[in-house]
Amino acid sequence: MFSSNGIGWAYTVAKDLDHIADEIQKAILDDARRIYSEKVIDHFLHPRNVGGIEDADGFARIKGPCGDTVYIFLKVNGARITDAKFLTDGCGTTIACGSVVTELIKGKEIKDGSKIRHTHVLAAVGGLPEADVHCALLAAGTLREAIKNYRLKIRSKGKNGREFRKRG
Ligand code: FES
Repeated sequence: MFSSNGIGWAYTVAKDLDHIADEIQKAILDDARRIYSEKVIDHFLHPRNVGGIEDADGFARIKGPCGDTVYIFLKVNGARITDAKFLTDGCGTTIACGSVVTELIKGKEIKDGSKIRHTHVLAAVGGLPEADVHCALLAAGTLREAIKNYRLKIRSKGKNGREFRKRG
């Protein structure tokens, strides 16, 4: 059984640990801010459009040379990308690039989405150090493959004589 003193002690320790964890997180973020833009930090801490899409119209999964993988899911209506989501097991910059790529693509026509390159991702995150540029390449490359996958599906539907919609 715990005495009320024991509970008070445990509460104090828990508060101290919370404080230490906050201080550590702050120190890590301060370090990150010396290297990365606020945009990168924001998308890393609050990534948009995380997750999968059931019955995605376009999908791709690419493992980069560093061993990290990005997954992109697209939902397309007519020739317009109505939804985009991503998943990754990668680093913080890959999370930021995946998040930004889904924001860049949502609402765009397929033909415009297929023009997105890593340079657009870099511009949208406010740049990355040279060592992290491959994270933007991975996100943009996975997006292009997801669009290719969508186009292949549409073509095969057309060949089978089933529903054939406008291509981007
Ligand atoms: Fe591998 Fe970022 S370090 S994609």
